[in-house]
Amino acid sequence: MTDKDCYAVFGYPIKHSKSPQIHRLFAEQTQQLLEYTAQEVLAERFKDSVNVFFSQGGKGLNCTLPLKELAWAFADRRTERAELSKAVNTLALQGDGSLLGDNTDGCGLIADLTGNHGISLEGARILILGAGGASRGIIAPILGHSPNHLTIVNRTPEKAIALATEFSILGDVEGCSFADIQGQQPFDLIINATSASLTDEMPPLADDLLAAEGVCYDLAYGNKPTSFVRWGAAHNARKSLDGLGMLVEQAAEAFFLWRSIRPQTKPVIAVLNAERGFS
Ligand code: ATR
Repeated sequence: MTDKDCYAVFGYPIKHSKSPQIHRLFAEQTQQLLEYTAQEVLAERFKDSVNVFFSQGGKGLNCTLPLKELAWAFADRRTERAELSKAVNTLALQGDGSLLGDNTDGCGLIADLTGNHGISLEGARILILGAGGASRGIIAPILGHSPNHLTIVNRTPEKAIALATEFSILGDVEGCSFADIQGQQPFDLIINATSASLTDEMPPLADDLLAAEGVCYDLAYGNKPTSFVRWGAAHNARKSLDGLGMLVEQAAEAFFLWRSIRPQTKPVIAVLNAERGFS
């Protein structure tokens, strides 16, 4: 390793990760001397790879698919939001040599929605599509913003119902099937947390599900609008956004945890959007 503080993102696949570029831009902007690399790590090699990284002087790690649950189990201590999401995307070496596990995904989404796009969650009717790990990480932060109501819908409804039951202590949340949401009062905000966009598929949504002036947000992102972002645009969404802003915001929160300095995110989002030809 170099004499710079070393950070990395572990995951598989990881080749196309934008995290090294994002953290390089944060470091330049805040004049921090650090190195951030992307390392392909399979689940079965996770523990060994983390041990090697920190024994060689690493200071902090991001963990992405399929490693977030493993990182949660590996951390010595966890923040409350990591505990709630049962997943860790950020490991930070502490002064006593222990590893703190955090999950910055949920606050990254909230920062992008409210800070970058001026979308208020308070009093809103919100629908989350999907009931996997990505959904779990955003439920508590959303309920923390006092929506009028939160519905979680899933192809396998039992998973949505179980998630809603688990989080019901935090607010008004219900789980259901796609058939159950047909004909319901339309939603102000629909968030796609399924993995459907990764294969350019679309969850089965009725045409009248989005309220007038409603917003669509896909946690996934790509160099072209995802199928769900296209659906939102075709259904007259006031905004139909993908998760690139959330990616940068969760990275900024991790950077803050590691370096105690909060980088500006808007210029970094602008660079990444320009590179993919988005205005
Ligand atoms: P992640 O950690 O990214 O959330 P996951 O835990 O595998 O990944 O969850 C994927 C989610 O996307 C699930 O809610 C899945 O629905 P099922 O639980 O019924 O499998 C949902 N999903 C994936 N492809 C989908 C599709 N084409 N249409 C609707 N939902 C889909």
